[in-house]
Amino acid sequence: MEYLSSILLLVLTFILTQAVYSRITGSTKPKYKLPPGPYPLPIIGNILSLGQKPHKSLAKLAKVHGPIMSLKLGQVTTIVISSPDMAKEVLLTHDNSLSNRVIPQALEVHDLHKHSITFQPISPLWRNLRKICKDQLFSNKSLDTSQDLRREKMRELVDEIHCCGLAGEVVDLGKITFKTAINMLSNTVFSVDLVHSQGSAGDFRETVMRLLEDTGKPNMADFFPALRRLDPQGIKSRNSFSIGKMLEILGGLIDQRVKLRQLQGFDNNMDMLNTLLNIAHGNNQDMNPAEIGHLSVTLFAAGTDTITSTLEWAMAELLRNENAMSKVKQEMEQIIGKGKLVEESDVARLPYLQAVLKETFRLHPLVPLLIPRKANETVEISGYTIPKDATILVNQWAMGRNSSVWENAELFSPERFVGSEIDIKGHHYQLTPFGGGRRICLGMPLAIRTLYLMLGSLINCFNWRLEDGLTIDDIDMEDKFGLTLVKAQPMRLIPHKISN
Ligand code: HEM
Ligand SMILES: *[C@@H]1O[C@H](CO)[C@@H](O)[C@H](O)[C@H]1NC(C)=O
Ligand SMILES: *[C@@H]1O[C@H](CO)[C@@H](O)[C@H](O)[C@H]1NC(C)=O
Ligand SMILES: *[C@@H]1O[C@H](CO)[C@@H](O)[C@H](O)[C@H]1NC(C)=O
Repeated sequence: MEYLSSILLLVLTFILTQAVYSRITGSTKPKYKLPPGPYPLPIIGNILSLGQKPHKSLAKLAKVHGPIMSLKLGQVTTIVISSPDMAKEVLLTHDNSLSNRVIPQALEVHDLHKHSITFQPISPLWRNLRKICKDQLFSNKSLDTSQDLRREKMRELVDEIHCCGLAGEVVDLGKITFKTAINMLSNTVFSVDLVHSQGSAGDFRETVMRLLEDTGKPNMADFFPALRRLDPQGIKSRNSFSIGKMLEILGGLIDQRVKLRQLQGFDNNMDMLNTLLNIAHGNNQDMNPAEIGHLSVTLFAAGTDTITSTLEWAMAELLRNENAMSKVKQEMEQIIGKGKLVEESDVARLPYLQAVLKETFRLHPLVPLLIPRKANETVEISGYTIPKDATILVNQWAMGRNSSVWENAELFSPERFVGSEIDIKGHHYQLTPFGGGRRICLGMPLAIRTLYLMLGSLINCFNWRLEDGLTIDDIDMEDKFGLTLVKAQPMRLIPHKISN
């Protein structure tokens, strides 16, 4: 209904404006050769083909039109990539020309669009922010230093789950791990816990999930720039609320630190917040506490629910595949010992655990179309033209399930990665859950460490079973589309602590 009414609205607006516009300019047909694609309807183009699950609809269209296709989404030419070869063209060969981003209308609130690393075009500001984060926050050295803090959070989580188990309570995996994920990130960035109770973690989680869903939804205001101010689906106003809430919470933390610094002068704890405040203090890079707040919103939106949703998918697949579950348990029992926490440095010695995570990303890429890129100049890929300003989507979900790329593509089988050189760090184009090239996920080093630490420890410290009366056939694997592809139904499980 929401779609229909907004489409009706824009049809009315556009029949008028288009008619006037083409009369003034005379309609010009482009001379270049776009990739093939479905035939566009007048004005709305192929918007109706997206449906509620664009990753699936686009995968179906690729079966007809091939691994590089073009769609017209309202006024936006959109190129959709669905094979490893074509992904390599985008993420490697033409990375320089295809690395801009479009700022979604949904994020033009609270000035976020001016400071979000994720949606800035390639610019001095983007370079600066990336460099600061990369050097200060996500370098091996900083991450090694902060790992004690993350281990401590993991220990607290294990204790908390243990208590639930003793009380015979059912655990909502996504919910209970969220508090840990958020505090791991806040300890890494700010050296403090951001949330103290499951209640406030739950509020934060709802906010992040709503933000990611709304930001990733097809938005008429992006397809028809003239609708940007009208906000036909109400997405921007919902986002304004979500982002306002996050800014309030994160801003509070930043203000606290600013006050502390005024009292104590600079302290020598060089966490990211102090580094950013020092830059702001030196005042040569145009950053003030409010802008640091915006950066923090970006990091917390990108770096919390992505982790817990991946854990949910991994656990769902492992419970459905008892063989894989017992193998991964056996590996950890042998290498690090029964019932123990996994250390970040153990991972190199746990090839099957690594294979489990890769296989989870293959079937459930958390960011199914990557974050849309934009061409800053016209380029040619395998004989087709990608015009300047086109949007480029790389359909990870389609590649992960393509039977020409993977044997038994629908089957969850970590074995396929055992002894294979394919990793997930952006160089093997059949599996790039973190993207690739200049725009590769900034938080990847932290994300990978956190995922192994949490997934490994959850498996090695507990036996998990479904609620009474349910069998593995009852596990609902339906997904929900947004910027991220999350599990539609929560994983509700009963833990049983394994003693060491
Ligand atoms: C399961 C975990 C995660 C997944 C699957 C994931 C995936 C992605 C993907 C696919 C992109 C777009 C890459 C491209 O355009 O080629 C991205 C960008 C980004 N990610 Fe992540 N991410 C994860 C966790 C994190 C974490 C923990 C953080 C930070 C705390 C983070 C921060 C970012 C940022 C800032 C960008 C934008 C980079 C830019 O545009 O320059 N992500 N991520
Ligand atoms: C599957 O992969 C092959 C080989 O990379 C590619 O040619 C084909 O177009 C892909 N199919 C779909 C539906 O994306
Ligand atoms: C597009 O971006 C690349 C890399 O930043 C740059 O070399 C190139 O000149 C840009 N093209 C245009 C037309 O601005
Ligand atoms: C970080 O450490 C890992 C494993 O120890 C290594 O493979 C990687 O190359 C290191 N990265 C950097 C940037 O030093």
